[in-house]
Amino acid sequence: MQVITTASEMQYACRALKNNRTLGFVPTMGALHDGHLSLVHRALSECAAVAASIFVNPTQFAAGEDYDVYPRTFDADCAKLEAAGVSLLFAPSATEMYPPGATTFVEVASIGDRLDGASRPGHFRGVATVIAKLFNIVGPDRAYFGQKDAAQIAVLRAMIRDLNFPVQLIACPIVREPGGLAMSSRNRNLSADDRRRALILHHALRAACKLLQTGETNAEALSSAILTAFANDPHVRLDYAAIVDPATLLPVSDTAHGALIAVAAWVGSTRLIDNLLTENLPIDSLLIDNLLLEAPHV
Ligand code: PAF
Repeated sequence: MQVITTASEMQYACRALKNNRTLGFVPTMGALHDGHLSLVHRALSECAAVAASIFVNPTQFAAGEDYDVYPRTFDADCAKLEAAGVSLLFAPSATEMYPPGATTFVEVASIGDRLDGASRPGHFRGVATVIAKLFNIVGPDRAYFGQKDAAQIAVLRAMIRDLNFPVQLIACPIVREPGGLAMSSRNRNLSADDRRRALILHHALRAACKLLQTGETNAEALSSAILTAFANDPHVRLDYAAIVDPATLLPVSDTAHGALIAVAAWVGSTRLIDNLLTENLPIDSLLIDNLLLEAPHV
């Protein structure tokens, strides 16, 4: 695996690697876990070659957020990507991505201000900007993202459509730890107590899932089950529980035609997110896809 730190070299190397074949791309902020590796494996199974990036993108963190303490495990990440079969890794510095004087940003209006965009103003402007830049540098045919960041997927799909990027966005299923906690680089920052408390996100979604299984599709009833689950632990601060259209992120009153049920919560000083995509699937597929009822109750 070749590790490249400048945009111009990466652009050149990606063009050579692509050579009329399908190029897959897995953008990350590092601290890689099995969720990231599932994206790499999926990309490798669908593309002739795969490039990845590791860049903790400062523009998607607001002042006072966890940029400084975001976990960084570069050497271990490189070993994982190389072992998986990634050909090129782009690992630029912040000044390489944002040279002095850079003033151009990509803003996905409206969608970018919903869910995490509402809680973290400017977050999706940073995400859309860095992904637009990475797409221009790598030139992938397919780009792989985790479904855990469901709002990010909606924002990036809108950006791809609006700016005519010739890229197919592939959303890959959430990967969970044995207790059901959605894998996240930020889980590394949880204390043992907070890790136990963090399961509440999963439990709340399970409560909604159980109701869905009985045929309930009313968003208020599903929300209320989620809020009840969160009320059980005063140490976890719910940021949002939302039942929305997965493409527009606007609230829906009924999930019968598919919905994204998303939660965000502060566990100690770490903000975590998780979600359930009901899509238009039969309930059995929904349960299998999200491992909700299979996971042991901890
Ligand atoms: O999901 C992430 O890890 C980041 O938001 C991304 C897409 C790599 C952009 O920095």
